[in-house]
Amino acid sequence: MRHIVFLDTTLRDGEQTPGVHINRGGKLEIARVLEKLGVDIIEAGFPAASQGDFRCVEEISRNVRKPVICALARCVEDDVKAAAEALKDAEKKRLNLFIATSPIHMEHKLRMTPEQVLKRAGDCLSLACRLFDDVEFSCEDATRSDPDFLVKIFDIAVAAGAKTINIPDTVGYASPAEFGELVRYIRRNVKGADSVAVSSHCHNDLGMAAANALAAIENGADQVECTINGVGERAGNAALEEIAMALRTRADHYGCEIGLDTTVLTRISRLVSSLYGVTVPVNKPIVGANCFAHESGIHQHGMMMDRRTYEIMTPESVGLTAENFVMGKLSGRHAFAKRLTELGYTTLSADAVTQCFARFKSYADKKNVTDDDIMAIVNEYLDSQTQIYRLVNFQIQSGSSGRAMAMVTLAAGDGEMSEAAIGDGPIDAAFNAVHRLSGATDISLDEFEIKAVTEGTDALGEARVKLTVDGGVYTGRSVSPDIIESCIRAYVNALNKWAGTGGEG
Ligand code: KIV
Ligand code: ZN
Repeated sequence: MRHIVFLDTTLRDGEQTPGVHINRGGKLEIARVLEKLGVDIIEAGFPAASQGDFRCVEEISRNVRKPVICALARCVEDDVKAAAEALKDAEKKRLNLFIATSPIHMEHKLRMTPEQVLKRAGDCLSLACRLFDDVEFSCEDATRSDPDFLVKIFDIAVAAGAKTINIPDTVGYASPAEFGELVRYIRRNVKGADSVAVSSHCHNDLGMAAANALAAIENGADQVECTINGVGERAGNAALEEIAMALRTRADHYGCEIGLDTTVLTRISRLVSSLYGVTVPVNKPIVGANCFAHESGIHQHGMMMDRRTYEIMTPESVGLTAENFVMGKLSGRHAFAKRLTELGYTTLSADAVTQCFARFKSYADKKNVTDDDIMAIVNEYLDSQTQIYRLVNFQIQSGSSGRAMAMVTLAAGDGEMSEAAIGDGPIDAAFNAVHRLSGATDISLDEFEIKAVTEGTDALGEARVKLTVDGGVYTGRSVSPDIIESCIRAYVNALNKWAGTGGEG
């Protein structure tokens, strides 16, 4: 059976999800679970894009040894050098070098002629192949490019020494039949294509990303690029779990083999959802909460007779177990640490576990604490490692008549600062006070969600916010038994992401 290579780009293309900014600790946790899942290649970031991205690639290169670690670079000398530097400690490394090839991108974005693009690609490929043994070459917006131009530029890439040629459907435009045909055309016409891997990279704007990736495989692609839960820019990327389970479940049809341990899929889906703050819809294939739920009487009857009547995969095959761990006040640090590992947090220091355990205990005295709560506690801890502002204290005055007043104290660096503000209700007042303390000129609250994570009047409340701050989008979330505290923490969490990027969005 043909082996299909999985390049996971959750940490690079997936992090281009609007409002998502993950720090190094969170990225390393995800990389470790991707390694357990068995992906062949982790695209860890775009080192030239920011200092933060550079450091993430560096950290993952040092700590994740089994998969190949890949970094993205434009056809720009400094990008290639930054990637080489960031990847220097990786045991196995790859450079993904890209340039746009569609008329619309070349003319309006690059402002280059097709000849200039060919020349730039050739020059950068020779530098890249001198610095790296493993170079992938990607044509951005390939599906809106002239197929013969693609052949020309891929000829140059293969001659220069690229080992993988990648065909991105950057704007999710192609249909499966067209995309499959394009893959076949490239395979047949690029000189030396038989000696290199052909890869697909599909976006989901028309909901066809996974279908397009599978069509590519049917037409000879050796590699698929994808993300966990399909996260990514706009409608996202092809979802890894959908492609993987299609290839596994329909091995009779595709005749391909994958090196993934699919029982890790549920765990990594939850970890990415929790760290990215992007909820998985209940009907999302493979990992949605309803995927193995059977509502109608006829279905339930069939399931009782034989599960195969209505299930084409078992819940166990994607790592969904019947056990529903609930940790309570009697759970000790050892059980808590073990649960963290099972949830995918494997890089926390003993001190980090102790701090998270203390927070867990303060909640567990009141309630049973679910996996979601534990993940929220750890994610807040991870965020706190790079935070600039920390909530110290708040006081609220509100009632049924008149406006509310909030006094908020934040710590920043060695000092503390306080502000009072009024608002339409306690949360509005508190947000106004934090806004003043942050020094941001322009903040709009685009989304705001509060929900009870557990049951009862002493339930843990979860707050999520999405802010536009000085033109960039930032999300924040928090849990606490005090819902107002939860809201303020979520707001501060989003502002920390803004402050951490130097306000660059
Ligand atoms: O979608 C795309 O074209 C990309 C490339 C940079 C590989 O992500
Ligand atoms: Zn992409």
